[in-house]
Amino acid sequence: MTNNKMLKIAVVLLLFAVAIAFPATNETVKNEPSGRVVGGNNAVNGQFPFVASIRNANNVHTHQGALISNRWVVSVAWIMQGRTAFNTRVAFGSVVRNQGFMFFLRRLIVHPEFNSTTGANDISLLQTIIPVFHGSLVFPASLTNFRLSGGERVTTLGWGNTMLGENTPQANSLQWISLQVTNDQTCRNFFANDPNFPLANGLCGISDANMRGMCAGDEGGPMVIGNTVHGLMRISPWCGQGTNPDIFVPLFDFKDWIASVRGF
Ligand SMILES: *[C@@H]1O[C@H](CO)[C@@H](O)[C@H](O)[C@H]1NC(C)=O
Ligand SMILES: *[C@@H]1O[C@H](CO)[C@@H](O)[C@H](O)[C@H]1NC(C)=O
Repeated sequence: MTNNKMLKIAVVLLLFAVAIAFPATNETVKNEPSGRVVGGNNAVNGQFPFVASIRNANNVHTHQGALISNRWVVSVAWIMQGRTAFNTRVAFGSVVRNQGFMFFLRRLIVHPEFNSTTGANDISLLQTIIPVFHGSLVFPASLTNFRLSGGERVTTLGWGNTMLGENTPQANSLQWISLQVTNDQTCRNFFANDPNFPLANGLCGISDANMRGMCAGDEGGPMVIGNTVHGLMRISPWCGQGTNPDIFVPLFDFKDWIASVRGF
């Protein structure tokens, strides 16, 4: 290898390192047709400072959660099979997939009464080893102190699939959409032909347009109103066919469990 080539490689590596150390504070909002939840909008850094990227042992993004204090992230349970505090990481502070500031875990606690058949208690808590710093890019959400009952407009987010279907590309940039929460009966009506569908008293969110909705890979994606987190994406049975519901874990139902685990 010539010195010239080595220099070029060194410069590329240096730029790469700088890009990782200083994630852009305001991503250019691009109109990339494939960059969507399904039909979503690009988030900018700092817009959702509580969003947690849950990673595997190789620091590769797998799903989402919400930071709810300086040491605790809440997420769903069903996707945590085989995951432990040792093979899981969380990261914050960048809308770009696999970037941001990574933290190791002290504990990963799946709700002891989680039932994968019924979908009951589909919730987990992740505690970081060191406190997560707060700033404009990283800041915890407030936990709701009431249960949404239907009609509310909410925002949901995730790095999941960007087109209809299971094996479509996942978002490189965090995506958000607006959904409307439906009441229990309206939601159940969608599952009239499938009475055993594991709804588990979930919150249902419906978008006002087809080709817009949550999809595979959006699991644990926070459902928020402002800086308050009300739910976490659990299942998207229709994946992006937005006039059908996506199912969310109602966090209000788990306030006592969360308090008992984290001690406040
Ligand atoms: C990002 O930059 C654009 C264009 O300068 C600006 O309109 C927008 O408000 C900025 N967003 C944030 C979150 O700073
Ligand atoms: C899950 O719920 C079903 C239906 O109520 C029950 O039969 C089953 O025993 C439960 N499983 C666990 C692991 O609790």
